[in-house]
Amino acid sequence: MTHQEFEKRMKKARDAFNRSAPVSGLRGYVDAVRKDIKVIKERDPAARSGAEVLLSYSGLHAMMAYRLSHTLFERGHCLSARLISQGARFATGIEIHPGATIGSGLFIDHGSGVVIGETAEIGDNCTIYQGVTLGGTGKHTGKRHPTLGNNVMVGAGAKVLGPFRVGNNTKIAAGAVVLSEIPDNSTAVGVPAKVVKIGNQRVEDLDQVNISDPVMQEFARLQEQITALEEKLREIENR
Ligand SMILES: CC(C)(COP(=O)(O)OP(=O)(O)OC[C@H]1O[C@@H](n2cnc3c(N)ncnc32)[C@H](O)[C@@H]1OP(=O)(O)O)[C@@H](O)C(=O)NCCC(=O)NCCS
Repeated sequence: MTHQEFEKRMKKARDAFNRSAPVSGLRGYVDAVRKDIKVIKERDPAARSGAEVLLSYSGLHAMMAYRLSHTLFERGHCLSARLISQGARFATGIEIHPGATIGSGLFIDHGSGVVIGETAEIGDNCTIYQGVTLGGTGKHTGKRHPTLGNNVMVGAGAKVLGPFRVGNNTKIAAGAVVLSEIPDNSTAVGVPAKVVKIGNQRVEDLDQVNISDPVMQEFARLQEQITALEEKLREIENR
């Protein structure tokens, strides 16, 4: 993928999501922070007041810095954007590349050790726990980080690596390593991650390689019947 194609794709993704737009002015920034505080209070039973969230939630602080750095990045001030993002990493342990595309309502709980790569895209109302990486495998250029749909939960320590999509309303288990696309409404666990539930239904282990072939089974049944008929015919002839 050329650089131009990559930029075009990123712009299209941003337009389609209508999210992660650079905040406009102080008022826009304050509104965005207010919304982030509300989201944390709604989603974390331990959060007692807005003041507590504002003063003590490192996930919120990282998002506050990201909004600033992303706005600068979008306006071409890449170095200052990176400096802010690195400052935030130093203060919170959460590294969000200023180029990442993040929807509304992201809650980074506990936070420490979270890494969100440049071409990662995150939908609305997602939750990410400490130690999560939305990163690349090192094999791709251009878009190389994952896209999370809406209402995705990524458990503590999970690594989601590569330029694929994690579907809406999906849960990635703590400690999972996700290396390929995950469908909507599912739960993925393990290393490498496997989908164990879709829409609250358990997915039984399927042997995708040694799967039985129904056509061959039918041929085998017909062959048995022919053999039996041949034997009967021989018996009748021999009488
Ligand atoms: C995956 C998770 C979201 C549960 O999702 P769920 O859809 O309710 O799934 P279930 O609990 O029904 O588990 C489905 C299967 O996955 C297994 N499983 C669940 N979490 C797992 C994990 N982290 N690693 C490996 N397997 C896991 C369960 O044992 C179960 O297996 P079984 O069907 O053989 O019994 C939850 O277990 C989890 O990992 N949450 C992360 C929370 C977190 O990071 N908290 C940090 C707070 S500080």
